[in-house]
Amino acid sequence: MTSQPTFPSQVWLTNARLLTMMAGDAGYQVSSPTTVHIKGGRIASIGLPLPSTDTIPTIDCANRLVTPGFIDCHTHLIYAGNRANEFEMRLNGKSYQEISANGGGILATVSATRTASEEQLIELALPRLDGLLRCGVTTVEVKSGYGLTLKDELKMLRAAKALQDHRSVNVCTTLLAAHATPPEYANRPSAYIDYVCNEIIPAVSEQSLASSVDVFCESIGFDLAQTEQVFLTAQQHGLAIKGHTEQLSNLGGSALTAKYQGLSVDHIEYLDEQGVKALAENGTVATLLPGAFYFLKETQQPPIALLRKHQVPMAVATDINPGTSPFADLTMMMNMSCTLFGLTPEEALRGVTSNAARALGLADQTGQLQVGYQADLAIWDIDHPADFSYLQGVTRLHARLVGGQVDYV
Ligand code: NIG
Ligand code: FE
Repeated sequence: MTSQPTFPSQVWLTNARLLTMMAGDAGYQVSSPTTVHIKGGRIASIGLPLPSTDTIPTIDCANRLVTPGFIDCHTHLIYAGNRANEFEMRLNGKSYQEISANGGGILATVSATRTASEEQLIELALPRLDGLLRCGVTTVEVKSGYGLTLKDELKMLRAAKALQDHRSVNVCTTLLAAHATPPEYANRPSAYIDYVCNEIIPAVSEQSLASSVDVFCESIGFDLAQTEQVFLTAQQHGLAIKGHTEQLSNLGGSALTAKYQGLSVDHIEYLDEQGVKALAENGTVATLLPGAFYFLKETQQPPIALLRKHQVPMAVATDINPGTSPFADLTMMMNMSCTLFGLTPEEALRGVTSNAARALGLADQTGQLQVGYQADLAIWDIDHPADFSYLQGVTRLHARLVGGQVDYV
């Protein structure tokens, strides 16, 4: 992706066929060719006539489709090391849980990530980030969780934020110190959770290094009481809450996350109707991660029919990480959410735009084409919106705009 000269103050898009992704059915309808005026990094107007002066910078979209920039609302982009060996072990019959119990899994990546410098972590993450940008991503969430010491969690979060200095993208960071119990605390998960709550969360909050706190609530992660302790501490520090919940079993982590007004619960293959109702009551987004489902060869389906019945907004994300979802491709996740989970292409598209923004607490800023929103847009060589989830492996992105700054493919 090469950067072209940018327009510092304002630009007009012309002949843009808009897919606004605003709420309601009309949001999925493509407009006839029109204009978008971008000023000060925001959408200033839609559909107004172009001013009759030739000094104003314009981009002729030539009837291309223009959508909100895509949002990958769940990633583990920052890590070192490689776990292809575990892929082979699983294909030879070992389970993800067995590998994890024997010191592999998350802890294998922890050891590689602790050894890496901040600069190395950034360098390693950039090619993965570029994969997402080629899918039209303009906002990416990045979690920590492979450091598990104060020093290494801060290092990961700084590296995540620094991606914005290297590429045109908005980065939203999440503290996932409660991802696994590190070796120093082996068999003492509660003592580790005390350390997370007493040392790591206060420091991250103090340094404004993350906007949310996430917990892996699972038999191989943390139990409900430990999860709740982290959520309480996060709330005390003014941080939003998210959960890796119901991925491998039904512990009730999603309902707990919802009880704390969590922004999203992610994975949720084992979620039951009681949990779905808790999401609906609290406005918590259900984030589907079909890459991990596919790569772990899971068979338990997330409860899509129940989520629809209770009108829980669904997001779709890559979960890119070295253990369960080595896929830097959000468009492929849209395809998989349709083929594996039965989403419609429209639901998949909402899952990477308006609903993904909601999963990050950014629903009033990005993920829709609306006056006043950040000018995060993608311009596509695509005829129909269903094509995003359909044809794979071909880059159909023409350009991205991040806060009004143009980046051509
Ligand atoms: O989202 N579920 C927990 N965490 C990651 C996997 C991390 C790993 O295996 O390295 C996930 O799937
Ligand atoms: Fe994850």
